[in-house]
Amino acid sequence: MVDLKLRAAPLIASALLGGCTLLDDGKRQFPTAEEAIAASFKTTDSAWRQRLVQDETQRLCSKAHDRPDKATAERIEKMNLAMKIAYPQSGTLVGDWKRGEVLAQSGYGLRVGDTAPNRPTGGNCYACHRLQARELSYGTLGPSLLGYGKMRGNSEAVVKYTYDKIWNAQAFSACSSMPRFGHNGILTPAQIADLVALLVDPASPVNQ
Ligand code: HEC
Repeated sequence: MVDLKLRAAPLIASALLGGCTLLDDGKRQFPTAEEAIAASFKTTDSAWRQRLVQDETQRLCSKAHDRPDKATAERIEKMNLAMKIAYPQSGTLVGDWKRGEVLAQSGYGLRVGDTAPNRPTGGNCYACHRLQARELSYGTLGPSLLGYGKMRGNSEAVVKYTYDKIWNAQAFSACSSMPRFGHNGILTPAQIADLVALLVDPASPVNQ
């Protein structure tokens, strides 16, 4: 075991130093971590490369190590609240909870190596939330959403908040680790409506 660690040590050290190789004149090859990451990112797909560019929200959150002071948090939430939200063409924000459950379970999409372009991107909600009692495998980075609709009801205000929250979590909680699913084009409006249904529909397993 010790031997293994010792052998791995130079590898780890060189991997860590990889991003800050010193040039002959003693200057760093990549002055910032962002530049090192961009240089090691081989794809030329512009949509992927664009994902390396931080927007103002991410920049402010990185600067604050995701712990913004009150004024910065308010600025971030206000900025995100003012951003455009698209609603489903169906006109209803509550879709089909059964489709929502499939989405909540699926972590497919937006990963290097995904091979089925027509397979819908998932929401991966269980990675961070408990949603139904029967599911034993869930993450705890986010609060439990078990009984969400049972506790809050499904009034227009609750439904709209839930939709808008999934669309852009940072409009309500600056520097949240929850992805901005609609804002960043991860999920479509119709998919988000299905997730709203999963949370608020009395028949959904979330509310049993
Ligand atoms: C990477 C972790 C992560 C993922 C994935 C994630 N969330 Fe969250 N979520 C959080 C965290 C952390 C919070 C609490 C902070 C906040 O409100 O943003 C939260 C909060 C929420 C809230 C607000 C709860 C309240 O009390 O008002 C809702 C609703 C929600 N998430 C739904 C979802 C749904 C639906 C999905 C899947 C599409 C999802 N989340 C995926 C981390 C995550």
